[in-house]
Amino acid sequence: MNSVFRNPLARLSATILGLALFSAPAISLENGLARTPPMGWNSWIVFELNIDEKLLRSMADALVATGMRDAGYQYLVVDAGWKAKQRSPNGELTADPNRFPSGIKALADYVHMKGLKFGIYTDAGSEDCGSGAPGSLGHEEQDAATFASWGVDFVKEDWCHTEGENARQVYRKMSDAIRKTGRPVILSMCEWGDNHPWLWAADLANMWRTTGDSKACWDCGRETKDKPGGYPRGWTLILDAQPALRQYAGPGHWNDPDLLVAGVKGVPIEESRANLSLWSILAAPLFAGIDLRSISPSVADIMMNKEVIAVDQDPAGMEGDRIAKSGDQEVWARPMENKDVAVVLFNRGDRTARISVSWKDLGRKPAEELTVRDLWKHEDLGSFHSEYAAVVPSHGVVMVRIGTKH
Ligand code: GLA
Repeated sequence: MNSVFRNPLARLSATILGLALFSAPAISLENGLARTPPMGWNSWIVFELNIDEKLLRSMADALVATGMRDAGYQYLVVDAGWKAKQRSPNGELTADPNRFPSGIKALADYVHMKGLKFGIYTDAGSEDCGSGAPGSLGHEEQDAATFASWGVDFVKEDWCHTEGENARQVYRKMSDAIRKTGRPVILSMCEWGDNHPWLWAADLANMWRTTGDSKACWDCGRETKDKPGGYPRGWTLILDAQPALRQYAGPGHWNDPDLLVAGVKGVPIEESRANLSLWSILAAPLFAGIDLRSISPSVADIMMNKEVIAVDQDPAGMEGDRIAKSGDQEVWARPMENKDVAVVLFNRGDRTARISVSWKDLGRKPAEELTVRDLWKHEDLGSFHSEYAAVVPSHGVVMVRIGTKH
């Protein structure tokens, strides 16, 4: 058997995972929000700029009808594409009159009536990304007040057209402006990790993007890998940029590896399972982008897997990490509040592979009897000594919860 933990580097990272459990929490925003990673639906990954109020209302309906809302996907976030090209004569942001004839307040009211929360997009610079609409630079207080008056619960603030601006100062302005409104609003920073926001954003935002945009493909866009900004690339490349950030996340302030590609048309079932599983190990905000009006039963089962979502939403809020890698075989682990460990065996290879996790690398004694539960099969697999090994499909995962036998 080929244990992925047989290399010294892997052992080192497993030890680091254990030690980091005792590190001091960062100073955070403490606005009482996002105590666990926010969950919801975002319009960008599938619809891009092709959005209007009819589509978004039907998505709110579908969040309820599919059971997604009750599974935890609470925020409906309207990404770029909602704004008119000009501010009103008194400088206010307004909605595109053709696509949003009833206005944003009416849409927010509808979303709230469905028992959901409402999120909206703006940009920290002079213009939004790609749409030519005005950004919030220099209008932070006015825009935050407008959003609050519409009943916005979540603001995603992008980073296009910010040449020469200081990210920390500009996002601080929006954060302060939101606080001044008195409305509880999540600030979701989207500066793509360019200025290492994990080092300074915990006291001004509830989540911050760690990379450029994730695309619904396995590893496409390699050539844009090192370019900053919103260059889309395959979700496994986004995943590769996450290790070593775990210490910066916690209740109220999360690393955001971007939207889920799970369930998006063209993403195979195994890859969808892998994406959701790994995002849950990362304590990532879970924002689905799929067209919920036509969700298949197998995609519904994936997106609403309660046991995987429970890992993401674990109240201790300790982000996990990759603890071992050997070629295409990886082991990711995340400590749970009840002392269980959530483990993902991830096979990036083109063929089925046997991957194992050893107790030693989880900081447990080999002689200890530990229970293993499969979170995708919803099955207790029994008690094991020293390690657990499983056959993992190509581009797929096995996700288990390992705990003490009672
Ligand atoms: C950038 C962001 C994306 C999305 C688009 C909208 O690329 O990173 O998440 O908001 O802009 O134009």
